[in-house]
Amino acid sequence: MEYKHGIDGLDPEYAAIVAPLLDHSDVRSMDGFRHHDRTALTHSLAVSTKAYAVAKRLRLDAVSVARGALLHDFFLYDWREVENSHHPTAHARVALANARARFSLNPVEEDIIVTHMWPIGKPFYSYRESALVSLVDKYVSTKEVTVLFARGLAAFAWLVVSRLGAALG
Ligand SMILES: [Fe+2]
Ligand SMILES: [Fe+2]
Repeated sequence: MEYKHGIDGLDPEYAAIVAPLLDHSDVRSMDGFRHHDRTALTHSLAVSTKAYAVAKRLRLDAVSVARGALLHDFFLYDWREVENSHHPTAHARVALANARARFSLNPVEEDIIVTHMWPIGKPFYSYRESALVSLVDKYVSTKEVTVLFARGLAAFAWLVVSRLGAALG
């Protein structure tokens, strides 16, 4: 339960908006799916909190941004364990279907979820809020994947150095 960590430090206004979503066991179950260098839930919280802060500054619909962003990757499976070559283009629709089945969403929230993979996945954004969440998701994801790559590189370098050390006596 990585996310409990982060949740204590959340801005109270933001926490009140997303509390009804975080109260749902299926949303919390995202904390059991690895995603980049963290879990699907901690990734979604990172996207949601950052996009919410920007939306407030830009006077966009920050509540819908917070909620839609928290559910943008609500596909509820480990994409590395499921044989699904369509995951990059299909998971936004799966996330939307899962979210619709559990919550009452407004059109902005639905659009945020289903368009977040543009341009890899269709459709194109219908709202500025959707473009914002999609951009923040790409920014956060790039950072997370870079951390993962750096960790892998460090592990590889350590292996090479220790093997070399052993070989050289
Ligand atoms: Fe996604
Ligand atoms: Fe994402």
